[in-house]
Amino acid sequence: MSSKIVFPKDVSEFDQGLKNIVSAVDEMLDTIAEVPDVPQKSVYEAMRYSLLAGGKRLRPVLTAAAAQMLGGSLNDALIAGCALECIHTYSLIHDDLPCMDNDDLRRGKPTCHKAFPENIALLAGDGLLNRAFEILSDKSAFESVDSKTALILIACLSRASGVQGMIGGQVVDLESENRNDVTLERLQQMHRGKTGAMIEAAALLGAVISGYIDENAPEYRAVSEFAQNLGMAFQIKDDILDVSGDEAVLGKPVGSDEAEGKNTFVTLLGLENAEAKLNEYTDAAKSALDIFGDSAWFLKELADRLISRDN
Ligand code: IPE
Ligand code: IPE
Ligand code: MG
Ligand code: MG
Ligand code: MG
Repeated sequence: MSSKIVFPKDVSEFDQGLKNIVSAVDEMLDTIAEVPDVPQKSVYEAMRYSLLAGGKRLRPVLTAAAAQMLGGSLNDALIAGCALECIHTYSLIHDDLPCMDNDDLRRGKPTCHKAFPENIALLAGDGLLNRAFEILSDKSAFESVDSKTALILIACLSRASGVQGMIGGQVVDLESENRNDVTLERLQQMHRGKTGAMIEAAALLGAVISGYIDENAPEYRAVSEFAQNLGMAFQIKDDILDVSGDEAVLGKPVGSDEAEGKNTFVTLLGLENAEAKLNEYTDAAKSALDIFGDSAWFLKELADRLISRDN
C-alpha cells in the first residue's frame, strides 16, 4: 500500500496539487476497500460503496499537508489519513440512518442504508471503524512509523472519534433537536465534538508522523489550534450549505437540518452572523500557523478555499 504524491510547490499549483493528493487518497482507499469472496461479502460491498462514493477527502489532505509542512513522510501520512477517512465514512453512514438524521442522499448517491439493507449499513459502519485501526496497527505498510509512533496515532484517532470527540458531539447534536434553549456555548461544544475533533486529529496525525509527539511542543499546539478552528469553520459552512446549497452540487439533501429540528449556527445566529463566525474561525486557523512561516502556505490557502466551497 504505497503511493507517490507530488506536492504542489506554490499557490499557482494549488488546484492541480490538491487533485493529485485526492487521487492518491482515492487510489489507496480503493485498495483498502477490496471485496473478498467470503460469505460476509455484502458488508464489504457496503463498506466499499460508501468509502468510494466520492467525498472531498479533506481529512487525508490535511494529514498529508501537515506532514509536508513539518517534513514527515507523505506515504505514511497518506496511510494514516486513509485510516481516518474510514472512520469519517463510518460516521457518515451512521449519521444518515433513520434513527439519526434520516437522510437518503450522500456523496451524490443513495445513502448506504438505501443501497443496502439497514442492518448491513450499520455493520458496514462498524466494519470501517475497525478497519481504521487495523490499518494503523499494520506496521509493514509504513516507511518511518515505529511501534511507539503507531501507538500515538492510534491513541489520537481513538480519542478523537470516541465519546470525548466525534461520538460525543453527535450525542449533543441529537439531544439538541427541537429545543429552543440551546446556547452558543453548547452549539460550539457540539461542533467541536462532532466535526472539530476528527479534523483536528487529521492534522495532528500528520504532525505525529513528522516526529511531533509532545503535546506541549509549540508546533504540536499550533497544528492543533489551526485544525480546531478550521473544524469549527468547516461545520459552520456545512450548516450554511444546508440552507443555501444546491443539492446537485452538495451531493446531500438541502434542508435536512430544518426537517430534523436541528440547532445550527444558522438557526441560532442567522445566516449573516454565521458567515461572520465562519470568517472569524478561518482567520484564527490561519493565524495559528504563522509560526511555520512560508511553509504553511498550502494549509492557509486550503482554509481560505473552504470558506467559499459549494460542497
Ligand atoms: C460531512 O463531512 C460531515 C461533516 C462533518 C460536516 P464532509 O463535508 O467532509 O463530507 P465528505 O467526506 O466530503 O463527503
Ligand atoms: C455530521 O454533521 C457530523 C458527523 C457525521 C460526525 P451533519 O449531520 O451536519 O453532517 P451532514 O450535513 O449530514 O454531512
Ligand atoms: Mg448529523
Ligand atoms: Mg447529517
Ligand atoms: Mg450538516
